[in-house]
Amino acid sequence: MTFTIAIDGPAAAGKGTLAKKLAAHYGFAYLDTGSLYRAVGVAVQVQGLDPSNETAAIAAARALDATKIDEKAIRTAEAGEAASVVAVMQPVRDAILQFQRDFAKNPPNGSKGAVLDGRDIGTVVCPEAPAKLFVTASPEIRAHRRWLELKGSGSAISEAQVLEETKERDRRDTERATSPLRPAPDAHLLDTSNLSIEAAFGEAVAIIDKSMR
Ligand code: CDP
Repeated sequence: MTFTIAIDGPAAAGKGTLAKKLAAHYGFAYLDTGSLYRAVGVAVQVQGLDPSNETAAIAAARALDATKIDEKAIRTAEAGEAASVVAVMQPVRDAILQFQRDFAKNPPNGSKGAVLDGRDIGTVVCPEAPAKLFVTASPEIRAHRRWLELKGSGSAISEAQVLEETKERDRRDTERATSPLRPAPDAHLLDTSNLSIEAAFGEAVAIIDKSMR
């Protein structure tokens, strides 16, 4: 039996950084499930189509090869927007679901466990996961972090615009009918608004160690 750590939460709450550190700490494999939705959104956009084009998004999700994702292309703010548009489509989610479950069940390289981060890992993808974290932070703090990240990669976007987009993405993710963003009933809440990366990591390890006993 492999061990699954499910990490969910809104955009820029610190899930990715935390998930990677946890995977390294426990020697587990890591899957950033947002990258799958981003790749689908980008695949539609490079065809010159709008991400809201369902036929194109569903075809892109079914054809997705997770080993061939262009990391650079999917990290733009536009790709994040496109991801949240295709992510409301149930057939897109269905196409990606089995890949995520297989990853958790049979992590690559014979790892004894997996860390998955996303929006619906604890609720839909791996509801049986023994360790679930719901990572949040205030919209202002999340927007500030995301803005620093984007600025670092050369973007000229303003912080106010990032805040607006963060709120819009939260709204789309929490209000959608398909797998809305919400904590699983058995998830541990971790608010990173006033926590350093190290402090958040320490709290997460304490929670997970307990669930391993
Ligand atoms: O890094 P950030 O939090 O901005 O976004 P992400 O985790 O890369 O996810 C991008 C978008 O994909 C989210 O806003 C969600 O709409 C969607 N997503 C999802 O619906 N389910 C997941 N398991 C992961 C991402």
